[in-house]
Amino acid sequence: MQEPLRYLEREQDRFVADLCEYVRFASVSAQPKHAPDVRACADWFAQRCQGLGLETRVYPTAGNPIVVARTPKIPGAPTFLVYGHYDVQPPEPFELWTTPPFDPQVRGRSLFGRGTTDNKGQHLAHLNAVEAYLRTGTPLPCNLVFLVEGEEEIGSKALYGFLPEHREELACDAVIISDNGIPGLEYPSLTYALRGIAAIEVRIDGPSRDLHSGLFGGTVENPAMALCQLLAKMRDEDGRITVAGYYDDVVPLSDYERRQLARIPATAEEYRVLTGSPQLFGEKGFTCEEQRTARPTFEINGLTSGYQGEGSKTIIPSWASAKLTLRLVPDQVPGKVIASVKAHLERLCPPTVRLTIKHGHGGEPYIVSPDGPLAQAALKALESGFGYPALLTREGGSIPIVSAFRQHLGADTLLLGMALPDDNAHSPDEKFDLDAYAAGMRMAVHLWPRLTEAKVASRS
Ligand code: BES
Ligand code: ZN
Repeated sequence: MQEPLRYLEREQDRFVADLCEYVRFASVSAQPKHAPDVRACADWFAQRCQGLGLETRVYPTAGNPIVVARTPKIPGAPTFLVYGHYDVQPPEPFELWTTPPFDPQVRGRSLFGRGTTDNKGQHLAHLNAVEAYLRTGTPLPCNLVFLVEGEEEIGSKALYGFLPEHREELACDAVIISDNGIPGLEYPSLTYALRGIAAIEVRIDGPSRDLHSGLFGGTVENPAMALCQLLAKMRDEDGRITVAGYYDDVVPLSDYERRQLARIPATAEEYRVLTGSPQLFGEKGFTCEEQRTARPTFEINGLTSGYQGEGSKTIIPSWASAKLTLRLVPDQVPGKVIASVKAHLERLCPPTVRLTIKHGHGGEPYIVSPDGPLAQAALKALESGFGYPALLTREGGSIPIVSAFRQHLGADTLLLGMALPDDNAHSPDEKFDLDAYAAGMRMAVHLWPRLTEAKVASRS
């Protein structure tokens, strides 16, 4: 392993330059105008894989292309699948970026740009580690399959269809994902749980058109007000969601888990500063770490109604709408939670307006035992790569496809994040820490022999 590690050190600057090239593609999956950038981005990644001698294919789909690349076959050796996504969140608002989102720039020890941390830098670190093996003539101990998609940020629709159709090609002993965070460079961690998600859109219709608020105000319901009142009833002052049955399937945190989460060094004040909030708000009876990773939420992501232009316009808007997402924890089921929210909204909606609810994407929460041999091997690789013992964490974000990996490939996922809490994923000035990039590559070099050893030992 010394040779690949030395190779990584020698090639650091070029790896940063490669990541810059990758980030220059504006691969925004949510915006159809970027479809050509999305395709070019997939091709770039595929070409890098091919250049390293990986057997590579770019699969067109009804949506964005999926790249599959595999290392030269070693019969009988275990196979691990590395998943990542080359699509990124929309960069807007542009004016809040210090430098343009798709013109990556290094400042200090950070590379700034949309997609640097979420997720181009994190899966490229894995490919760089494979390069270090191949280019130094160091035999890889296992088979690796890279599966990199372009719709993660919009719900992975194409991949859901692709997985069952390519079950054999993607067969593996475990899935490895680096698309999540760690509390700090000195706190590498194995994430053993992710929240799930259920998205819905609620629309309230009132009068058949916008009305003069002087002529009609006081006689007809204001849809914006009705929506606000309805949504305000969904959560109480203690931060508990009031929807009947919402917590029925929530598995309570064990004392062991609470102790593990308490080892994470971030304080409430640090979260307050990090988020720029006047004061934190969360469900009573839980620590910040528990609130943001192990408790379900009911979030309003967007609210629209009435006149949004300059100056004022005295109207009763004819409609109001809200985009909502619910973050879910084990064992909540998206369909069941949506049904109870729907029933609750319908029960509370006044007869003065009409309510329409549209379902969006959904993803189950995920949890895997951190006690298994592969998880233990990953903890050791994290320690070797980052130089500090690894923690166990849960994460609040969602990667819905992990449940489908379990369902279709029968494989559990190990989440080995490289993102720091201040990396600004989905925000302006997204960045990737170059020391995390380097540590992530070292971790990946250590990972393959560790996992292989653990897998082979568990077979006998
Ligand atoms: N990388 C994130 C997921 C993530 C972030 C996991 C932090 C753990 C910690 C991923 O790219 C993402 O943003 N996922 C979306 C999924 C959604 C669009 C279905 C999310 O969590 O909002
Ligand atoms: Zn994301």
